[in-house]
Amino acid sequence: MNAIESVLIENRVFAPNAVAAAAARISGMSAYDALCAEAERDFEGFWERLARANLVWSKPFTKVLDESNAPFYKWFEDGELNASANCLDKHMGTPVEHKTAVIFEADDGAVTRTSYRELLSRVSQFANALLADGIGKGDRVLIYMPMTLEGVIAMQACARIGATHSVVFGGFSAKALHERIIDAGAVAVITANYQRRGGRELPLKAIVDEGLAMGGCETIKTVFVYQRTANPCNMVAGRDKTFAEALAGQSDNCPALAVGAEHPLFVLYTSGSTGKPKGVQHSTGGYLLWAKLTMDWTFDLQPSDVFWCTADIGWITGHSYVAYGPLAAGATQIIYEGVPTFPNAGRFWQMIERHQCTIFYTAPTAIRSLIKAAESDANVHPARSNLGSLRILGSVGEPINPEAWMWYYRNVGGERCPIVDTFWQTETGGHMITPLPGATPLVPGSCTLPLPGIMAAIVDEAGHDIANGTGGLLVVKRPWPSMIRTIWNDPERFKKAYFPTEMGGKLYLAGDGAVRSADRGYFRITGRIDDVLNVSGHRLGTMEIESALVSHTVLVAEAAVVGRPDDLTGEAVCAFVVLKGARPTGDAAAAMAKELRDWVAKEIGPLAKPKDIRFAENLPKTRSGKIMRRLLRSVAKGEAVTQDTSTLENPAILDQLGQAW
Ligand code: WT7
Repeated sequence: MNAIESVLIENRVFAPNAVAAAAARISGMSAYDALCAEAERDFEGFWERLARANLVWSKPFTKVLDESNAPFYKWFEDGELNASANCLDKHMGTPVEHKTAVIFEADDGAVTRTSYRELLSRVSQFANALLADGIGKGDRVLIYMPMTLEGVIAMQACARIGATHSVVFGGFSAKALHERIIDAGAVAVITANYQRRGGRELPLKAIVDEGLAMGGCETIKTVFVYQRTANPCNMVAGRDKTFAEALAGQSDNCPALAVGAEHPLFVLYTSGSTGKPKGVQHSTGGYLLWAKLTMDWTFDLQPSDVFWCTADIGWITGHSYVAYGPLAAGATQIIYEGVPTFPNAGRFWQMIERHQCTIFYTAPTAIRSLIKAAESDANVHPARSNLGSLRILGSVGEPINPEAWMWYYRNVGGERCPIVDTFWQTETGGHMITPLPGATPLVPGSCTLPLPGIMAAIVDEAGHDIANGTGGLLVVKRPWPSMIRTIWNDPERFKKAYFPTEMGGKLYLAGDGAVRSADRGYFRITGRIDDVLNVSGHRLGTMEIESALVSHTVLVAEAAVVGRPDDLTGEAVCAFVVLKGARPTGDAAAAMAKELRDWVAKEIGPLAKPKDIRFAENLPKTRSGKIMRRLLRSVAKGEAVTQDTSTLENPAILDQLGQAW
């Protein structure tokens, strides 16, 4: 169990607000139970009904689920649709057409509003620019953009013409970008000259140039550059085009191309338990169905809502709950370019008041850092803003500790707003286990119950069900429409990672440990069971960071990376490093640690920088040479090592590792 969870044990149950619950789409537990029962009784019929009701099909599907080549499941396969048409065109001629789709607030506070009609025009015009460049159905387009409306437009424009996008978070390095461009075989990059965050301008285009210069990117024909700031950037003649150049003369009418429901809408890279990131491939029909439906179910979206998901489009949360879900559901949403702490840590609360936000969805890490700021400066406390517009709060990305939950509930939600603690993953496409705001009694720190149709369970290593109250492995027993389809270029890894034969090959293995409460059967996620860390809600593979460290071939002989609990970031990266030279101490160690941290930032991105680096002459290994990570986890936490060390080749190393550096 995570150390930060253990401080407050909150056993109270918070019932949904009766007035709000009565008006909700899923009003009360009996409505929830009825949907679950429908899915149990007639699984395919349930999904068929929802897919017909929530999506516009250019060609209706005749078959719901194809399990003949499991675990490569196919949903609604002979149906055809377009994701962008389902987000934009479908609203034309309805009251949503002239509604505000996006309230964009820039880093410097400038606000622009874009209606659905205008957004359709801008997406269509950009789609025409892509077509004019020779980009078409099935091509992969890499998007490396700031958190701006233009990022969403780029994604929607790709979807409109059937191109598969792959968004890379703006905090990743040139090397990470390079690796993804090559794996995806991308034909174009869409980027910006700079990104604006916290009052600063950070280069994006220069990083793209650096990545492309690493070689092997011959597939890239064009780099589209959005000029976010007045600062010039390097432009390569014949390859690079500004948005203005690309859009000049393009019509704002571009018919959306109908594609098969299984057509890959996007590939999004995420970390796994090996050094190489996985390209998670998502479909068009099943993915979009769930993005839309979870807006309605989890957020109880109503026409007058102002929805705000603070995630960046570089992560799955920004795909499902910024770029697709809110638009498919016809919501007005807020998109914010900057960081929560600029110009001060009251920015989120001030923005909620300014835009009369009704549904606010953010990560526990953000909440924890804003609690800390509010405790030391009353001016940035949520009490300084009028948050009366809020009606639902959400949490995503990592377990929320009960203290943070209670603070969020009281100080942001005024003890009036339910908190939906949504458990899901890049691979699941959308929410899996979450309270419903008008139905589920809330228990702080628990993501409560699976959504209807999601057959989540807890099993042992052989795949057998485990009784409530006992911890085990989280699995999903039946496929669901928005599930990962495969790992791009690596179907074998897909099978092995998610449908292990040791467990029968039929269960989707989430990679998380979980336990269900004995009384209510509520799920609580206890953390990853593989070598994946969750730092500030960002997923990092320990192996990836290890490979980055040992790629410093001049300095580093060996490295092992583990996580340790951290009050602010949930988990922190802790690296044990054996240098080629002598083990440094004092200032020399600090200087060396800084050099290696910067190296990791260059290899992967600043988000992967180890918080702790400890130098050792050796790593604890078994006689067969396996690094004993469990021991290292204890050392990283500063705990006494209680594990059996009898198989350890070099027990003396533990003392050295335990010393402060
Ligand atoms: C991992 C997935 C979900 C989209 C953003 C992260 C952890 C996510 C919760 C939650 C406890 C959570 C899990 C999961 N996680 N949400 N509500 N409670 N843990 O997506 O980068 O694919 O990471 O994040 O460990 O496996 P991701």
